[in-house]
Amino acid sequence: MKKIMILGAGIYQVPLIKTAKRMGLYTIAVSIPGNYPGFALADKSYYENTVDEEKMLEIARAEQIDGIVTTGTDVCVQSIGNVCDALNLCGISREAAVIANNKMLMKTKYEEFGVRTARFRQVSFQDPDIKKTIEGLEFPLIFKSVDSSGSRGIIRVDSYDAFDSAMAYVKESTRKDYFLIEEFIEGEEFGAQAFVHKGEVVFILPHGDYVFHGDTGVPIGHFAPYQLSEEVIEDARRQLRGAVKAMGLDNCAINADFILKDGKTYVLELGGRCGATCLAELVSIYYGFDYYEKIIKVALGEDPGFDLVSHAVPNASHLLMSGKDGIIVSQKDNNPPDQNIYEVQFDYRPGDEVHEFRVGPHRIGHIITRGETLEEAQDLLFKAMDKIEIAVE
Ligand SMILES: Nc1ncnc2c1ncn2[C@@H]1O[C@H](COP(=O)(O)OP(=O)(O)O)[C@@H](O)[C@H]1O
Ligand SMILES: [Mg+2]
Repeated sequence: MKKIMILGAGIYQVPLIKTAKRMGLYTIAVSIPGNYPGFALADKSYYENTVDEEKMLEIARAEQIDGIVTTGTDVCVQSIGNVCDALNLCGISREAAVIANNKMLMKTKYEEFGVRTARFRQVSFQDPDIKKTIEGLEFPLIFKSVDSSGSRGIIRVDSYDAFDSAMAYVKESTRKDYFLIEEFIEGEEFGAQAFVHKGEVVFILPHGDYVFHGDTGVPIGHFAPYQLSEEVIEDARRQLRGAVKAMGLDNCAINADFILKDGKTYVLELGGRCGATCLAELVSIYYGFDYYEKIIKVALGEDPGFDLVSHAVPNASHLLMSGKDGIIVSQKDNNPPDQNIYEVQFDYRPGDEVHEFRVGPHRIGHIITRGETLEEAQDLLFKAMDKIEIAVE
């Protein structure tokens, strides 16, 4: 029986763990201790921090695993690269993962390889003359911590007056003594899921994003296909392929963040793992295969057999959210059975505590729909969401 090690045991790793089990694999889940649903599903669990590269390698060696993978999170990708390198497993290399985990290294590579990205400068927190360092950049700007994710340590800056407070803000979210200043691109955010296998980009699927505007933008849903002109899509694909090459990503899923401005795609960042918020499902429905299964097969060094010709099923997803802090008193899906409602998931049970939605981890469930057309899928998404009642007191 082959052994797969899955890093993370949260809501986004649960379907990956379930799929591994269904494939008959001995499934090992690793995560920091906590109330994570994946532990109960795996054959064996380790309660360790997945960021700890040494520890992950120690477990991988002791268990003699055949593959290691995650989905929906960036934090453990470097540990995965380290294990893949050390044990000669199929997956992202440590070198590529290091680049993916540091926005400065990533952007420097993009520049070097001619990938379109916002103009930027590396800036030391001690820099006595930042104005000079960023000469040539134009307002509005965005200050970024290079080693965080989930929009932490990222803030828009519209004037020199805001520099000090913005720097203090960034500093709270980084372990580095420098940060990134880049030009703020006023445009439309979108994304893409992609997969690179044996040096070939197997598919690129651009998708639209529903965004919740709180302290920062938080993705709360996605849809595909994303209707752009052929020309724009081709340019986005070109930028993504360039970014994959620049970063040296191989044998991994890819989660790409883009901004579209004047018909041109700017690459914000690429992660060497599948996206969260129903994005694996978006790929599965669109192409008509089980994406989690493909991800696992590649991690095991098997042939994934991507079959991309037969399907192109429009679909859409949205998180379920609470408007206030409190306890769930009841939750009910009042939708009549409908084959185009692909999934309604409640993350919690009555009696559980939930939060007013501000960031992704505050989700309390999700809904995924499909349709003959994108419009149909999106229509159904919002109508069906209205019929889901979650009472929080
Ligand atoms: N150059 C930019 N111009 C405009 N918005 C940006 C820019 N860079 C980042 N953002 C905004 O900040 C969010 C987070 O930035 P990103 O680089 O993707 O970091 P994270 O790893 O936190 O997702 C983006 O989704 C986007 O909304
Ligand atoms: Mg991002």
